[in-house]
Amino acid sequence: SKILLLNGPNLNLLGRREPQHYGQQTLGEIVSNLLIQAEQNEVVLEHLQSNAEHELVDAIHNSDAEFIIINPAAYTHTSVAIRDALVGVDIPFIEVHLSNVHAREPFRQHSYFSDKAQGVICGLGAQGYEFALTAAVSYLNK
Ligand code: DQA
Repeated sequence: SKILLLNGPNLNLLGRREPQHYGQQTLGEIVSNLLIQAEQNEVVLEHLQSNAEHELVDAIHNSDAEFIIINPAAYTHTSVAIRDALVGVDIPFIEVHLSNVHAREPFRQHSYFSDKAQGVICGLGAQGYEFALTAAVSYLNK
């Protein structure tokens, strides 16, 4: 089975971007660990990071994955378009945030995704993606 991992704007800066919130690991390091985890679990993991809303929308439309793991980043708090894309293709998804968005500015406490997500993980850093992948694999094996 195939799982699509999507990362939104500014996550390409991980490693040097506000490490107190987002940790020291680069996105490349995070993704290569997830690829190993995926291989060990005999699932295919596809990854896209984009700073452009329409690219994330198009990737959702064009995906043949059975599950999506998404950190929409700032689009979490703004994007009806990405929300509608996920609902439109009807692929189950988990929402991940590195930081605990509930312990930060009030504008980060609303998500356009959480009420449609199968689950939401936040505040656990890069480990949140690993937990999401574990949950996705067990969902797909059910
Ligand atoms: C984030 C939290 C968002 O509020 C922020 O805009 C991001 C990253 C996180 O992973 O903690 O870019 O999604």
